[in-house]
Amino acid sequence: MMKLMRREWSLTLAVLLSGTTAAVAGNGRPADRVGSTVPSVALSDSSGKPVDLQSLHGNKATIVVFLSFECPICTSYLQPLGEMFDAYRSKGTAVVGVVVGDDETSADVARQIKEFRITFPVLRDDKHIAADAFGAAITPEAFLLDDKGVIRYRGRIDNRYASRVRQNTQVTNHDLRQALDNLLADKPIATPVTKAVGCAISREQKTLAHTGSVTFYRDVLPIVQNRCQACHRPGEVGPFSLMTYRQAVNWAGDIKDYTQSRRMPPWKPTEGPPFLHERKLADQEIATIASWVDAGTPEGDSHDAPPPRHFVEGWQRGTPDLVLESGDFQVGPSGRDVFRCYVMPTSLPEDKYVTAVEVRPGNSRIAHHALLFLDTMAQGRKLEADENKRPKKADEIDKGPGYFSGMGVGFLPRGSLGGWAPGQISRELPEGTAYFLPKGADVVMQMHYHRDGRLETDRTRVGLYFAKKPIARRFQGIVTAGGQAGFRAFFIPPGANHLRLHGRTWIEQDCDIYSVMPHMHLIGRDIKVTMTPPGGATMTLVHIPDWDYNWQETYFFKEPIHAKAGTKFEVEAFYDNSAANPNNPNNPPKMVTFGEQTTNEMCFGFIGATTDRPGRIRMRFNEQPRNAQRALNRQSSDTRPP
Ligand code: HEC
Repeated sequence: MMKLMRREWSLTLAVLLSGTTAAVAGNGRPADRVGSTVPSVALSDSSGKPVDLQSLHGNKATIVVFLSFECPICTSYLQPLGEMFDAYRSKGTAVVGVVVGDDETSADVARQIKEFRITFPVLRDDKHIAADAFGAAITPEAFLLDDKGVIRYRGRIDNRYASRVRQNTQVTNHDLRQALDNLLADKPIATPVTKAVGCAISREQKTLAHTGSVTFYRDVLPIVQNRCQACHRPGEVGPFSLMTYRQAVNWAGDIKDYTQSRRMPPWKPTEGPPFLHERKLADQEIATIASWVDAGTPEGDSHDAPPPRHFVEGWQRGTPDLVLESGDFQVGPSGRDVFRCYVMPTSLPEDKYVTAVEVRPGNSRIAHHALLFLDTMAQGRKLEADENKRPKKADEIDKGPGYFSGMGVGFLPRGSLGGWAPGQISRELPEGTAYFLPKGADVVMQMHYHRDGRLETDRTRVGLYFAKKPIARRFQGIVTAGGQAGFRAFFIPPGANHLRLHGRTWIEQDCDIYSVMPHMHLIGRDIKVTMTPPGGATMTLVHIPDWDYNWQETYFFKEPIHAKAGTKFEVEAFYDNSAANPNNPNNPPKMVTFGEQTTNEMCFGFIGATTDRPGRIRMRFNEQPRNAQRALNRQSSDTRPP
């Protein structure tokens, strides 16, 4: 069966210098302090009570981990660290977390301990005493101390993170645990130093400039308000907040890097017609941020600051005509991302036309995508019933309504109501057009969740706004699907690092096109969707040369584009199925074919269109046999991309 619409989708500061830092022992290298002992440091606990770090040492071993609750990599390790604490406590091993910096008060730390359900002791190092004593510069970084308090290992906990924003799909080295097992077994530690991946510990910058030609309040804050705060504010998807001068200073180096390399704000297309709501910084904005960082982050005068940006809470477009809800779903603190499908009955007695859809994630810390599909044959209900019958394991943490699927919804949907991604604004479909919502249909919503180290709950709501007058032009989909040798089927052999898939679709009547959405899974690298009018020049609708599964969106054109009958739409995409690709879900690589699981691939360009002629848009696909053509025509025109 042709599945066309598989889209996914915290020690107060008195250093009780009980002697100077011990001399370097044995083979330890002074730079990394392995082989040295750490002076006793007095920190404070989350109630503000002074605690000497050494008083928390285990009789055999101690793990000291530097942490920051602002750092998503740290929070993702809190549960695994808790598990190590539980597993090794009886073996004389202690785990102590040290939260560095004064951004968080004792009360903040106490709250976070509760929220993250941390069972091991956590101390506050607000003046970087412990961080300096250990030479720690990154959170999370783990230090393994033996019974004499000598550092025997320092570095990462495991190799889950290839870099700050890239997780390896599989963890192959549990470095901290291996070092601990060897220490407890009196065996040598093979790799006493590894590189910690995480967030920089920013030390007090005494040389902070106060004024300069570029200042925070006058020049930088306006950019940050307009371009970053939509996501980088408390409770939103950005991994840290950019609301205050201090926060901007803490992240200054990264802000400069990420904006100069155009990795932030996230906006993937490099080519295409002008798009609505492009999240692209102007060259001047990037230059302003860079000169502010280079000048030592001058604060300036707070009277120059623009008024705080007001973010609308609640429905942005007013009360919807119909509100659908997912119900409460619980997402565990760590592990792979979750894809969950929810069946939301509309129970409408008559057909409706939907002119706008607004998705309001209940929990923006974890919600990364929502995709909405129409189900007129209760297929989602059946999948949910099957899920409810499935025997549950006692330790299943992810639970609630709905069912699990791969990267799709588990059936061929009758249509789409678009989708949502962080920072995306709900918009009205072009004047005179609407999605068709048949009576009695269910809306099946697929949600993609990131885990954030906490036990989280989400209840996402979807607001539908109906047309107030009849709609002649249904918003439909033109689908172009990539394959090999003119077919939609494809095989991406293991090791292939630049495999091309290609597909073509001709429309057989005039259309107006409004949007484009490319779609691949994890090993997709580069994708381009183009259109070529009969006898005319090829035009790029979208090109994403650095595909990221986490940032797929529907891109709306500023102006609709007219496409004449006979216009060809093409998708061309490249895949990297080599072991060198950190996104490869298979290790070692395996043969990859079409499908909706994480380990399968897809190659689609969905184009949002309307036509004056009643009924569905007629299309012709590749050089496929006629029956496949018919099947594709029947399905694709009904499965409308947003
Ligand atoms: C649409 C939402 C969104 C907007 C707008 C946005 N960010 Fe981000 N940012 C994120 C998310 C989500 C991440 C985490 C990485 C990821 O998922 O790609 C991130 C990561 C980052 C990181 C890397 C953090 C790390 O741990 O490595 C920096 C630096 C950053 N953003 C700066 C900015 C700046 C500066 C702006 C504004 C000019 C901005 N971002 C705008 C969502 C956003």
